[in-house]
Amino acid sequence: MTILVTGGTGKTGRRIADKLTTLGHTVRVGSRSGTPPFDWTDRDTWAPALAGADAAYLAYQPDLIVPGALDDIRAFTELAVRSGVRRLVLLSGRNEPEAQACERVVRESGLEWTVVTCGWFMQNFTEGYLLESVLDGAIALPAREVAEPFVDADDIADVAVAALVEDGHTGRTYELTGPRLLTFADAAAELSKATGREIAYIPITMEQYAAGAAEHGVPGDVVAMLTTLFTEVLDGRNAYVADGVREALGRPARDFTDFAAAWAQSTS
Ligand SMILES: NC(=O)c1ccc[n+]([C@@H]2O[C@H](COP(=O)([O-])OP(=O)(O)OC[C@H]3O[C@@H](n4cnc5c(N)ncnc54)[C@H](OP(=O)(O)O)[C@@H]3O)[C@@H](O)[C@H]2O)c1
Repeated sequence: MTILVTGGTGKTGRRIADKLTTLGHTVRVGSRSGTPPFDWTDRDTWAPALAGADAAYLAYQPDLIVPGALDDIRAFTELAVRSGVRRLVLLSGRNEPEAQACERVVRESGLEWTVVTCGWFMQNFTEGYLLESVLDGAIALPAREVAEPFVDADDIADVAVAALVEDGHTGRTYELTGPRLLTFADAAAELSKATGREIAYIPITMEQYAAGAAEHGVPGDVVAMLTTLFTEVLDGRNAYVADGVREALGRPARDFTDFAAAWAQSTS
């Protein structure tokens, strides 16, 4: 199969691209650095990326909760249908009304679809915007004491690959989480234990967080998106574990302790 992997250099997309390539599929990386380049903000780049693709993994940027995402997902999905794509796998958030509207577009597209809904990735700490804080030993966030079942990007990738190339996942929505609830303080403690270095969680207010991000040059719309994620999405609504990894793959999800140990070993 020829498969377009949007976000194909990112936390889930890179893993999906690698796994698909290993399985012998032809992968087209859908990102601004891909060939051809694919940019969510430039619709002229979409058709060349979709041309000849049998299936696509859809990881929107920057997030399905931002204004304009629904229009983009609708236009992309319609173009995918016209381009002859047969199968679509959508990466979505958990219990976010804006993301759920995008999920409905994919479900109603007439394509073979699978939706994977995910909470916070474990890899935000080691590959994402929290890496610098982790390396500095202080994760300052307005996350209060809300617990989150952090999910491993490798588990997401395994589920997405199965949905892209195997039978039996069409029409399914998999809610993917790790096997355990952790607060951000718990996650910091796990990373400390794994690395042998003190990594503290420092609770701060939303105002302190927004001011700090702006000081570091984070653009205003990104600050707005992050504060929405911390206020509206990290409000306790997702403080439960789901069984999507086992439902899709027949095996348990990876625990944060194992993730942290593997990361510490790979960087030591
Ligand atoms: N991180 C989480 O905890 C989490 C949780 C749930 C859902 N999600 C969802 O996962 C998706 C990926 O988010 P992420 O933060 O983890 O990022 P990511 O996938 O690690 O990295 C971003 C990827 O998108 C590409 N990209 C960036 N801007 C782009 C643009 N304008 N057009 C096309 N491609 C672009 C980047 O490649 P180039 O730089 O080459 O363009 C890169 O491949 C988002 O939809 C997010 O809402 C994330």
